[in-house]
Amino acid sequence: MSTSPSGKKVGFIVYFIGFTAALAGLLFGLDVGVISGAQQFIEKDFKIGDQQIELIVSALLWVFGTLISGMISSHFGRRRTILVSAVIFIIGSICCAFAIDENWLIAARFLLGIAVGVASFTAPLYLSEISPQTVRGSMISMYQLMITIGIVLAFLSDTWLASYATFGGVTGGHWRIMLGVIAIPAAVMFAGVLFLPESPRWLFLKGFKDHAVKVFQRMHLDDAEIEAEVREIEDSLKVKQNGFQMFLQNSHFRRAIGLGIGLQIVQQLTGINVIMYYAPKIFSLAGFETVSQQMWGTVIVGITNVLATFIAIAFVDRLGRKPIMYAGFVVMGLALLTVGLLFNADIAKNPQLGLPAMGALLVFIVGFAMSAGPIIWVICSEIYPLAGRDLGVTCSTATNWITNAIVGQTFLTMLATLGGGNTFLLYGGMNVLFVVFFILLVPETKGVSLEKIEKNLMSGLPLRKIGR
Ligand code: BGC
Repeated sequence: MSTSPSGKKVGFIVYFIGFTAALAGLLFGLDVGVISGAQQFIEKDFKIGDQQIELIVSALLWVFGTLISGMISSHFGRRRTILVSAVIFIIGSICCAFAIDENWLIAARFLLGIAVGVASFTAPLYLSEISPQTVRGSMISMYQLMITIGIVLAFLSDTWLASYATFGGVTGGHWRIMLGVIAIPAAVMFAGVLFLPESPRWLFLKGFKDHAVKVFQRMHLDDAEIEAEVREIEDSLKVKQNGFQMFLQNSHFRRAIGLGIGLQIVQQLTGINVIMYYAPKIFSLAGFETVSQQMWGTVIVGITNVLATFIAIAFVDRLGRKPIMYAGFVVMGLALLTVGLLFNADIAKNPQLGLPAMGALLVFIVGFAMSAGPIIWVICSEIYPLAGRDLGVTCSTATNWITNAIVGQTFLTMLATLGGGNTFLLYGGMNVLFVVFFILLVPETKGVSLEKIEKNLMSGLPLRKIGR
């Protein structure tokens, strides 16, 4: 339990709101994670090759939802938008389970991508708008953590359904259930969100001030706290969102947009999702032959990802963003270079290399989860001027998903043309180069107010200095 400025405990209702909205993160993680365990069975059932598998993996990621969610959520409200995304999650998951061929599956994953896009834009926005100031950081981190938990739950459910579960006399290989079962948490989110209040900031925006105050009362905030929240909302609403106009007219804003886009490209080119989507395949290339070895290896990857995220949460406000990012890139770069060298030493014929290669892969996951995973999202939420924040976040989030799709869609082809070793060497090398990107272009934003960052940006300081 946290304590509010008046010393009062923050009530259960606030955590209920935080948890329910963060379920959107869980669904996002489930849909990202589930495909790694399902693909080898889909491949066998539909008798398809690498290119169709790449399309099934990446259809989720052409998340046009991100582009339209700003409009939907500002028109219909955050809560209704999350409800709509829950319904699409349910329909998409059921369509995946009943897919009659690979094209059907690609279409169903594309539909799920709309839900993921809408949810990944709206849920953090809703959380940041409804959380009392004292717990805002932890509520948004809860969303990030839920993504990694979703991924690990998907890996666990895949492992069970791939190897142990018996349905209709068949043991293992139940890819339809793997994909369909996600309809259940989506239904739980739908039911939970029905009980959530609308975002007070959105209510204000639409002129329902009384209703907004009632939401705060329902959250058991006292009069002084409500007054402070209302004042903050009124202040922030004085700044009208005019992102497009600002984009056309202001080169400093364009620099910030460019930085956000660059940061998200860097996050994806670390190679994290190569491992999130294709871990069992990588384990099999490294000589782990049985499905259960591959699946348990994947579960360990997921758990490592969750646990190492806590390192970032603990240190991001103490050590700063940049030192953690430098450490993360060095760890990620060295780890992937090691994986690449071991693969090039003909890992398939030298089983004793399998274990060190997988150890290095886990070190890479630690490097990502303690740094680029959460911190790129943090910096992207800090660098935009208030009046252009919606547009800025839309651009960087869309970039995240588009690059994510490209990485997901090219890995198997890279394996086939470059070979495993060279593919990992390439990703490893890029991680080392990203240190230079951070040195030259990225500001340290620890402990600096958003107003100060905005002022520095607009006064023309180089990007790396706008955090001073
Ligand atoms: C990234 C996702 C990735 C996840 C893994 C997020 O920060 O944006 O692409 O799958 O971390 O934990």
